[in-house]
Amino acid sequence: MSRTRFALVFFLSLSTAWPCAVQAQRSLAFDAHALPEAGAVAIAVAEDLPEGGSFAAIDARSGGALRRAAQAEGFRGKADSTLDLKGFGGYERLLVVGVGKQSLAPRELEDVGGRVAQAFAKSRATRVELVWDGDEADAAAHLALGASLGQYTFDKYRSKKTGDEAGDDAATGKGELVIRTRAGKAAGDAYVAQWKPVADAVALARDLATEPGNALWPEEFVARVRAAASGLPLRIEVLDVAAMRKLGMGGILAVGQGSVRPPRLLLLRYDGGRAGDAPLAFVGKGITFDSGGISIKPNTNMWQMKGDMTGAATVVSTAIALAGRKAPVNVVAVAALAENMPSGSASRPGDVVRTASGKTFEIMSTDAEGRMVLTDALWYVQREDRPKLVVDVATLTGAIVAALGGDYAGLFSRDDRLAGQLLAAGEASGEELWRMPLRDEYGKRLKSPIADLRNGGGTPGAGVGAYFIGEWVDRALPWAHLDIAGSDWKDSASPTVPEGASGFGVRLLDRFVRDHHE
Ligand code: BES
Ligand code: MN
Ligand code: ZN
Repeated sequence: MSRTRFALVFFLSLSTAWPCAVQAQRSLAFDAHALPEAGAVAIAVAEDLPEGGSFAAIDARSGGALRRAAQAEGFRGKADSTLDLKGFGGYERLLVVGVGKQSLAPRELEDVGGRVAQAFAKSRATRVELVWDGDEADAAAHLALGASLGQYTFDKYRSKKTGDEAGDDAATGKGELVIRTRAGKAAGDAYVAQWKPVADAVALARDLATEPGNALWPEEFVARVRAAASGLPLRIEVLDVAAMRKLGMGGILAVGQGSVRPPRLLLLRYDGGRAGDAPLAFVGKGITFDSGGISIKPNTNMWQMKGDMTGAATVVSTAIALAGRKAPVNVVAVAALAENMPSGSASRPGDVVRTASGKTFEIMSTDAEGRMVLTDALWYVQREDRPKLVVDVATLTGAIVAALGGDYAGLFSRDDRLAGQLLAAGEASGEELWRMPLRDEYGKRLKSPIADLRNGGGTPGAGVGAYFIGEWVDRALPWAHLDIAGSDWKDSASPTVPEGASGFGVRLLDRFVRDHHE
């Protein structure tokens, strides 16, 4: 018995030795602005195909053939349009990306980079050159960020690195993507220092979200984060079950007790700001699989609950990004990790739970487990770190999916200033938020006849869930709750987010820190 156990544990631990998902299919390189006369090339052009840039230069070189091709295809350079020419002039392929305006915001530049990377994902060209007629290093870096985000794939479980679709074979989408701008190689410095850490962190968040429940459980999540954080100036603290018992963390323990895989509370601290400055606290829901527990979920789409840890993935990945780019800020990221399973040791509906703060709640549904694990995480970080604000990130409710789909995450806050900063960061990063109401009377819907609160009840489901979480945050502390159920997973690809795990929140929180807390 103990032998087979050992063998099983050994086998499972091998999973950490698997190669990481291929995060950047083409490596990114930067070079001086020049217009190649052959090969696989992408250029951008504004609406009405103005004179003066690469488009006009190739047109002149081709004796007007490029404008004729554009005319024939009805291509006018409008945003989101493309002219894709194979074997045009000396080019193996010339991709003309319409960008509409002359001057683009960072998130629009990222979309251009992502569109180019995705357009060449199934190409066998080992070298793709993106010629951009601008001279700003930061703009070039955003093109690269978008390319990196857009070409993300997760193929570690395919025995041959071969896709299902025709023409998608091992030789495609490899080699390099060279970004040629008038900023030249300075663009590479900007990218590596400021934006590559963000691109890599988003890929980490996507990897963690995509990993199935048999490959990622609380302890394994901790191991993966330790590996990703190695070499970075991050302090890691992990509370195991014994430590959580000592602190009376009944909330997270109640969720974890039904699983053979014990819960963990993981904290990542990054002190890039002034010594003694109160940190920003980012707290994430990390349910590595949410079966619903005894209040078991229906079968349809239950598999998606392998991704019920994206809040935790987002906050730890953000801390890793901030450390990687040496942001001048103090941050603590907290991941409340548990697996929610039904078993003989699982919590029951009706159970009363005492959390570390001393506050008690009655379980109405064991499927409202996200708010249960967050109680103790919020209490602990407030006691240990005295943060100046708290943002929690959680795939909390199906109700937010019904309200907002995947286009926005729900933002709940009583603090207009913090809400405004987060909304602005969402707008700037492209990871958008929609503010939802958080009314005092939601508290009445959470009254229990025998405990301080109950963990669910009444509508609106997303707002009532937010209210419950807020009961574990000091009312004097600026606090916001982001419900990312829906926005954390995309059913169709966009330029910077391939279908699947989006890594939602990393770019948003990084932008929030850059614009408001550096
Ligand atoms: N993880 C789910 C929420 C969820 C649903 C995320 C769909 C992504 C897609 C959460 O733990 C949950 O089950 N919430 C319940 C709360 C209810 C029992 C109060 C819900 O939304 O039904
Ligand atoms: Mn649930
Ligand atoms: Zn859940």
